[in-house]
Amino acid sequence: MSSLREMESTVRNKQVILRDYIKGFPKESDLMIIEVANAVELKVKAGSKDILVKNLYLSCDPYMGILMREPNPSTSALMDAFVPGKPISGYGVSRVIDSDDPTFTKGDFVCGMVDWEEYSTINPTSSFKIDVNINVPLSYYTGILGMTGLTAYVGFYEICSAKKGETVFVSAASGAVGQLVGQFAKLMGCYVVGSAGSKQKVDLLLNKLGFDDAFNYKEEPNLDSALKRCFPKGIDIYFENVGGKMLDAVLLNIKTYGRIAVCGMISQYHLETREGIQNLPVVIYKKIKMQGFVAIDFIDTFPKFLEFVLPYIKERKLIYVEDIVEGLENGPAALAGLFRGQNFGKQVLKVARE
Ligand SMILES: NC(=O)c1ccc[n+]([C@@H]2O[C@H](COP(=O)([O-])OP(=O)(O)OC[C@H]3O[C@@H](n4cnc5c(N)ncnc54)[C@H](OP(=O)(O)O)[C@@H]3O)[C@@H](O)[C@H]2O)c1
Repeated sequence: MSSLREMESTVRNKQVILRDYIKGFPKESDLMIIEVANAVELKVKAGSKDILVKNLYLSCDPYMGILMREPNPSTSALMDAFVPGKPISGYGVSRVIDSDDPTFTKGDFVCGMVDWEEYSTINPTSSFKIDVNINVPLSYYTGILGMTGLTAYVGFYEICSAKKGETVFVSAASGAVGQLVGQFAKLMGCYVVGSAGSKQKVDLLLNKLGFDDAFNYKEEPNLDSALKRCFPKGIDIYFENVGGKMLDAVLLNIKTYGRIAVCGMISQYHLETREGIQNLPVVIYKKIKMQGFVAIDFIDTFPKFLEFVLPYIKERKLIYVEDIVEGLENGPAALAGLFRGQNFGKQVLKVARE
């Protein structure tokens, strides 16, 4: 539905701007909101093949914190860093306001990369049209039906080589990726344990998401003992989301021929001096396969993934927990909150009404 503002020919645009490259953990104050009057003409240039969209939902992801840092050769291999003084960008769901691309028409919902702002003009080559007949909440396309879901899917099914009956440990288990990995592992018939940073999150894992066991890593005096308690016979598969001390403890508890899918290491991204891993020789002694991966490399798997996941969503065999914060101006706090465990499930920013 068009709003009154969209009946005008130009509208203001609010944006979330990176002040400067960050040092240390991302903070709300590293980002600022600006509002430019009459910034956006509600019509795309003829012949541009662009589309003009109104952004509805924006995904908050840990990699965005990495892009707030000064680029270095290893992070540049992942994606280009954000530019100080310019809006940050990320995955989002938007509504088409005007289009010079015949594939998209006014009113379509699309999903893809956009700047963190109210209105964006984009070249839609890597955006895709949302099929509204699928009838799931649009916000899902920032998560379970977007990169988050693909990450959990390829990480678990392509990298872990899991088999029924194996033991699986997931860190940051109540988060966007972790909650799905744990449930995929349960669907396969594995024994699944998760770690998370609060009692409320542990309750979610045990009582709603069907994990066999879970613990609050912040309250465990010894992570090695916690893992020994949950896995008396050892861990077959570790789905790594956090790195650091947790990885060290897992190496003491992993079985021979165990697998470690390295999805993320959120505890390490913003440390000035990263923690060393003491038990890495175990990888040799126990013949461990440890593999990092980046979901975007598996984008061709996306249609197969959707075919797999949609029936589980429809039949309510997968539970998906979102933490939706409203208002672009609350984006900086929501993004920074990921690094303090503030989010409860997938962190989404709702920018405008559908
Ligand atoms: N490889 C890929 O393609 C790919 C794609 C998406 C995400 N990832 C990675 O996957 C991991 C999870 O991402 P997500 O999107 O699902 O985020 P998320 O789990 O929804 O949110 C981040 C969570 O990380 C935990 N955390 C934050 N700081 C921590 C620390 N110092 N030590 C331990 N845990 C900490 C917090 O949960 P607690 O309260 O439980 O501590 C926080 O809620 C991240 O490492 C991310 O970089 C990788």
